[in-house]
Amino acid sequence: MIITVTLNAAIDNTLSVPHFRLGARHRAVDKRAAAGGKGINVARALKCLGQPVIATGFAGGVTGTRIIEYLTGESVLNDFVRIGEESRTSTVLIDPTTGEQTEINEHGPRVSEAELELFREKLMYLAPGADICVIAGSIPKGIPYDFYGELVSGLKKHGVATLVDAEGDIMSHALRAEPDMIAPNVNEAEEMVGREFVDAEDLASAPGELRALGAKDAVVTTSEGCWSVLDEDAQKTLHVTAPELDPITTVGSGDALVAGLVSARYIGLGGEEALRYAVACGAESTQHFGAGTLDRTAVDQLVDRVEIEAIQRPVVS
Ligand SMILES: Nc1ncnc2c1ncn2[C@@H]1O[C@H](COP(=O)(O)OP(=O)(O)OP(=O)(O)O)[C@@H](O)[C@H]1O
Ligand SMILES: [Mg+2]
Repeated sequence: MIITVTLNAAIDNTLSVPHFRLGARHRAVDKRAAAGGKGINVARALKCLGQPVIATGFAGGVTGTRIIEYLTGESVLNDFVRIGEESRTSTVLIDPTTGEQTEINEHGPRVSEAELELFREKLMYLAPGADICVIAGSIPKGIPYDFYGELVSGLKKHGVATLVDAEGDIMSHALRAEPDMIAPNVNEAEEMVGREFVDAEDLASAPGELRALGAKDAVVTTSEGCWSVLDEDAQKTLHVTAPELDPITTVGSGDALVAGLVSARYIGLGGEEALRYAVACGAESTQHFGAGTLDRTAVDQLVDRVEIEAIQRPVVS
């Protein structure tokens, strides 16, 4: 079983607004609502890939009820802690004439100490039945910054491998707990290592630097694929490139890549094969409107078109 954790679950409203302009009045030509938040997107993608997954986290108020109803409607198993405050709503505006997208994310509810304790208990109850846990996205107010690190350490005791995907202080703290996998995009990776990447050389060295900060398998995603150093062969930097596709939307493509990586590891694929599959999932997801939506057959067809280049690098002690 795979667990996904979404502490800041949301209802994602996606509006299609042609010729979107700030300060103007618009009419949306298409509107979709779905359960969202990074962990939930990963759970949806894992379900599309046919893997057993259970989504957990916090859900509050009528928005929380809708999140759970949407997930149940998609047959994504879920077991959320209900909280007193209202879960957030996120809005994505897509301009179909340019492909440009604008995201507006709310802060989310405050979680009480008692609710947090309920969550700890729930996760540790689920852990013995799990192999991998994905901890992804922002944290609501009231949760300590080192909470993801605490979860990683707790899950480790149950032999559960972890993938953490978050930003800022939460991620820095999580790295200290040595998660098994991380998959930041370029901006997030820059923030973690504390400098900007200007060229391919910078990107190639980034996964090694992230490993030095605590991660085991480090994957840095780009719009073309990813750069990675895996624990099983830390001398090698892998540059993985997806075939070029014309994206419909790239929202949630990183979450689809995470699902691909976890799915591949869950069935026991080796590192390079897992990365190939992950990048195929990220790329395929750009062909669908909803975040974390994948066509498994199309992924299988894309995998062979993903290219991997291995670069030997000097040992960093
Ligand atoms: N413009 C694009 N065209 C084709 N594939 C893309 C494009 N953008 C992203 N992808 C695919 O999606 C994967 C992840 O992309 P990206 O680095 O943008 O993730 P992200 O920023 O974490 O996304 P999100 O947080 O919205 O899920 C890439 O490895 C690539 O395979
Ligand atoms: Mg991402």
